[in-house]
Amino acid sequence: MWATNLRIVALVLGTLGLYTLIANEIPQVQSEVPQTLALGADVTPEQLVAAGERVFTGAGGCTACHGLGTRAPNLLTDEKGTGLIGERCGKREPGKSCKQYLYESLDNPNASVVPGYEPIMPAVTRQLPPAQVWAVIAFLESQGGSVDVTASDIPAQTPGLTPGASPGSAGGGALAGGSTDPMTLFRVGGCVGCHKLGAEGGAVGPDLSRIGARQTASQIRVSILDPDARITPGFENFKGIMPKTFGDQLTAAQLEALVRFLAARR
Ligand code: HEC
Ligand code: HEC
Repeated sequence: MWATNLRIVALVLGTLGLYTLIANEIPQVQSEVPQTLALGADVTPEQLVAAGERVFTGAGGCTACHGLGTRAPNLLTDEKGTGLIGERCGKREPGKSCKQYLYESLDNPNASVVPGYEPIMPAVTRQLPPAQVWAVIAFLESQGGSVDVTASDIPAQTPGLTPGASPGSAGGGALAGGSTDPMTLFRVGGCVGCHKLGAEGGAVGPDLSRIGARQTASQIRVSILDPDARITPGFENFKGIMPKTFGDQLTAAQLEALVRFLAARR
C-alpha cells in the first residue's frame, strides 16, 4: 500500500517534470534554429575548428552516439589503440586522405562501416548545411591531426536546401529552407534513414506508417522533441539512438506540420 502510494507520487512528479520539460522545450523550437555560419573566404582554421566544436556538441547531435560507451567509436579519445580520430582518419582506407575519409564518413556512412559497429550513423550531409559539415571535419582533424579544411572546400550555396539564405551565409537557417511539406521534412530531416513510412525508409526505429493509431499528436510531438521520454515498447535497446536535436532543427511551424501529418497516418 505504502509502496503503491510512493509509486503514484513518483509517477505524478515524473509527469509534472516531463510537462515542465516540454514547456521549456517549446519556446526553444523557434529561438534555437541552428545559427547561420557565416564563414567567409578568409576564415582561419581556428575559426573553423571552434565552429565545428559547437556543431559537434550541439546541433549536429553527434554526442548522442559518440563518446557514450560502446554504441559508436570514440572520436575525441583513443579508440581501441588506434588513437584519436585526427590521428587515425588518414589510415582508415588505403588511398584516402584524412579529409576524404571524414567527408565520406559524414556523407555516406555505410560506404565503409567501422568493424564491430552497427550501420546506424545518419548521413550528416543531409541534415546539416555544408558549412557546418566542413567545420565539423576541421574539428575532428584537430583531434590529434592537422587541419587542412579551407574556405575553398565549402560550396558557396546549396541550391534547393536553402533558397532563402542570403549570399555569403553558407547555408544555415531552418531545415529544408523552412519548408513545411511533411514528406520533405521526413526525408531531409533524416527520419527516413531510421523509420519506414509506407514503402520508403529504414528499419532502425519503429515503422511509422500507422503511428497515428498508436500515438496522439501530443505524444508524437514528445517523441520528436524528447525521444528518450518514452521508449517505444520493443525498442528498449535502441534508447538514445534517435537524435535529440529536432527541437533545434525544426521551426515551430515545421514541427507542427510533421506532427499533424504523422498523427493522421492510421
Ligand atoms: C545514431 C548514432 C550516431 C550519430 C548521431 C552519429 N554517429 Fe558517427 N558513427 C556512428 C557509428 C555506429 C559509427 C561506426 C559505424 C560506421 O562506420 O558507420 C560511426 C562512425 C563515425 C566516424 C568514423 C569513425 C572512425 O573511427 O573511423 C566518424 C568520423 C563519425 N562517425 C562522425 C560523426 C559526427 C561528426 C556526427 C555528428 C554530426 C556523428 N558521427 C553522428 C554512430 C553515430
Ligand atoms: C538515427 C535513427 C533515428 C532518426 C534519424 C529518427 N528516429 Fe525516430 N526513433 C528512432 C528509434 C530507435 C525509436 C524508438 C526508440 C525511442 O522511442 O526512442 C524512435 C521513435 C520515434 C517515434 C515513436 C514511435 C512509436 O511507435 O512510439 C516517433 C514518432 C519518431 N521516432 C519520429 C521521428 C521523426 C519525425 C524523425 C525525423 C524528424 C525521427 N524520428 C528521426 C530512431 C530514429
